[in-house]
Amino acid sequence: MTKNLTIAIDGPAAAGKSTVAKKVARRLSYTYIDTGAMYRALTWKAIQAGISLNDEKELSGLLSKTKIDLVQTKEGQSIMLDGKDVSLEVRTQEVTNQVSFTAKHKTVREAMVERQRQLVKTRGVVMDGRDIGTHVLPDADVKIFMVASVEERAERRHIENQEKGFASDLEQLKEEIRQRDAIDSTREYSPLVKAEDAIEVDTTSLSIDEVVERILTIVEKTKGNSS
Ligand code: CDP
Ligand code: CDP
Repeated sequence: MTKNLTIAIDGPAAAGKSTVAKKVARRLSYTYIDTGAMYRALTWKAIQAGISLNDEKELSGLLSKTKIDLVQTKEGQSIMLDGKDVSLEVRTQEVTNQVSFTAKHKTVREAMVERQRQLVKTRGVVMDGRDIGTHVLPDADVKIFMVASVEERAERRHIENQEKGFASDLEQLKEEIRQRDAIDSTREYSPLVKAEDAIEVDTTSLSIDEVVERILTIVEKTKGNSS
């Protein structure tokens, strides 16, 4: 019998987590769960409501009244906020540059982590984020910590923006990525750190498919070890 695993993928901004996680999930017929989209959705809603992202109490209150759903689609996943598809809205520069302030708060994180764990209804899941291996799914069968140089990550986002026809400045992207990594890595509550038992994959000079294959090999090895 083939055993379904839980796979945690963490790492800094634009390391390739979601692109690779989606593909790995598709190859294994697993469910993909994008936890960053959940923090982004709350950030979007708070900005619309004029709530300060520094106000933990207001944000937690807002989250308790907010429905966030991840809907599987052919392309990967849509993020639904109170029943409305906000997949495009949550990717705006405004949300990207502010989401780390939302994600700093202990009570917001606790509520998000609980929701994320509830999404794992059966095994056979690939979840990506910042604290999946350390906090959300500490017993995950496979933990990947995906990294790449800041230059490479900014370059990738730059190309992505250009392909979408968005204005894009490479140096500014580098600075924004550095700032977001710094906030995520130094926050008090479940910061971005590599779990002790995670395998680091440096994607700087790897193509998407090479990273996917590398992770699938790790998955197969893990299955082999446990059978
Ligand atoms: O895709 P990208 O790396 O740009 O970011 P994301 O995965 O969409 O996450 C956006 C932000 O949400 C991160 O910069 C973190 O501040 C926060 N986040 C988090 O704190 N914990 C998670 N498990 C996922 C995201
Ligand atoms: O989820 P995360 O922020 O870690 O990164 P992503 O959104 O999956 O990837 C950022 C960009 O890098 C996307 O445009 C990917 O297509 C690209 N990428 C790449 O060029 N080479 C890789 N090995 C991984 C991702």
